[in-house]
Amino acid sequence: MNIDTSSGRFADADVQALAVAVFKDERTDEGFLKDLDAATGGLVRSVIETEELKGKEGETAYLHLAASGEGAKAKRLLLVGVGERADYRAAQVSQFAGAAVRALRARNVKTVGLVPRLADADAALVSSSAVEGAIIGLFEPDKYRTIDKEERTIERLVVVIEGADDEALRRGVERGRVVGESVNFTRDLANEPGAYMTPTIMAERAQEIANEFGLEIDVLDQARIEEEGMGAFLSVARGSDQPPKLMVLKYMPDGKKSVEDGENYLALVGKGITFDTGGISIKPSENMELMKYDMTGGATVLGVMRAIAQLKPPIPILGVVPSTENMPSGKATKPGDVVRAMTGKTIEVINTDAEGRLILADAVAYAKKLGATQVIDMATLTGAVSIALGDVNTGILGTDQKLIDEVIESGREVGEKFWQLPLDKEYTKQIKSDIADIKNVGGRKAGTITAAAFIKEFADGISWAHLDIAGTAWGDEAKPSRSKGPTGVAVRSLINFIERASRKAAETNG
Ligand code: BES
Ligand code: MN
Ligand code: ZN
Repeated sequence: MNIDTSSGRFADADVQALAVAVFKDERTDEGFLKDLDAATGGLVRSVIETEELKGKEGETAYLHLAASGEGAKAKRLLLVGVGERADYRAAQVSQFAGAAVRALRARNVKTVGLVPRLADADAALVSSSAVEGAIIGLFEPDKYRTIDKEERTIERLVVVIEGADDEALRRGVERGRVVGESVNFTRDLANEPGAYMTPTIMAERAQEIANEFGLEIDVLDQARIEEEGMGAFLSVARGSDQPPKLMVLKYMPDGKKSVEDGENYLALVGKGITFDTGGISIKPSENMELMKYDMTGGATVLGVMRAIAQLKPPIPILGVVPSTENMPSGKATKPGDVVRAMTGKTIEVINTDAEGRLILADAVAYAKKLGATQVIDMATLTGAVSIALGDVNTGILGTDQKLIDEVIESGREVGEKFWQLPLDKEYTKQIKSDIADIKNVGGRKAGTITAAAFIKEFADGISWAHLDIAGTAWGDEAKPSRSKGPTGVAVRSLINFIERASRKAAETNG
């Protein structure tokens, strides 16, 4: 898709269709809609006065404009409801753009002008949000379909913000493209069947982004994982014929050699279970096919690193992805086995299906060994989080309230919701073992919290937050602004988090 910008009048945009945001209960006898109405020969007014379109979020009306030669150059107009004007910000622009391109692609439109209308806001932010939303909106999970596949494409997109600074618009488009493509990169990995996304293949994908965008990479194979003493990680990999991999990606700002003493060093750590059968504690077969997405946390880390390598923030970032299958076999770990984590802690494995926390324990410890002072881990960790929060909010827990608040705010700005669950020390009692230091499950109560309490045992001495994306990483239904399937949740929030942290670091450094 070719992406352009225009700071001229919407009516002059040389496209087949214009998509325009319309606020809830917006008037047509003044302001922007009055102009739009005039350019469309009164069509806008008739649609809104008859309440065919009230401006509620996700609503659309598709209009055929007269080919009069006057008014707008475009011959089609899509009105897209975006809700309350007072709540309309970057996150809503992104959803507007997604809904617009999906609706127009369905009508086989090839060239689209997006009119997000946030004339007073930062033009770079608005154009970035529009482009990111459009790219995310066009993703389809039908890669392996040969019939009834979505073959239609939008060839040209023009972001129209009247009177905006052209340079800011272009900067925004570049950022939006990077962010949108990185979110879709994560979604594509998450969508792959287990047979096509083994730990080895995932590590190859990591190597590819490192080569393409310039990141340092180190992939630890089974022998090196053994040398590091990662008994918790290895206990999960035992049952599989596929060798485990530990991916380590490093982003360093230009000209920087190493992280200085006392400097904050953020590591993103993501669960990369390329298929979770449950192991010997095998899962029921119903819906087990979905467990191909149990590597989404890891894919999220790779997506963020892919974006960061291009956006080049001024702070160093580490990405760590432990990856393995969780399979039953004659070699698999058995319930009751005791394993020794990299830190020396002993773990009684009560349930081999609580494997995510086992691989994260060693990955978090390894991030610390590499110098991380701050860790955000992300994982499709517990079914319990969907019971608690559904597919609306990602669960967030941790030991550093400032960090948690900052992630929540970063999410709010991009339209991703996080809801904090408590992590009082009392919950740790539930994972005390009779024969080892801790056990890997804490009973039926507070499943998402006890899983986090387990990881906390390996995150001492650092600032730490944990995202449980099991409920939000997969959409069972399509939305106006995106397809069903992998959502790429948290990629945008974390990119925004890093950009916000960069601005803060710049402020304090002078
Ligand atoms: N990958 C699953 C969590 C999951 C379940 C993600 C459903 C998405 C949808 C995880 O490894 C797991 O199996 N967790 C168990 C933990 C239990 C054994 C304590 C769970 O949530 O049932
Ligand atoms: Mn499991
Ligand atoms: Zn799992």
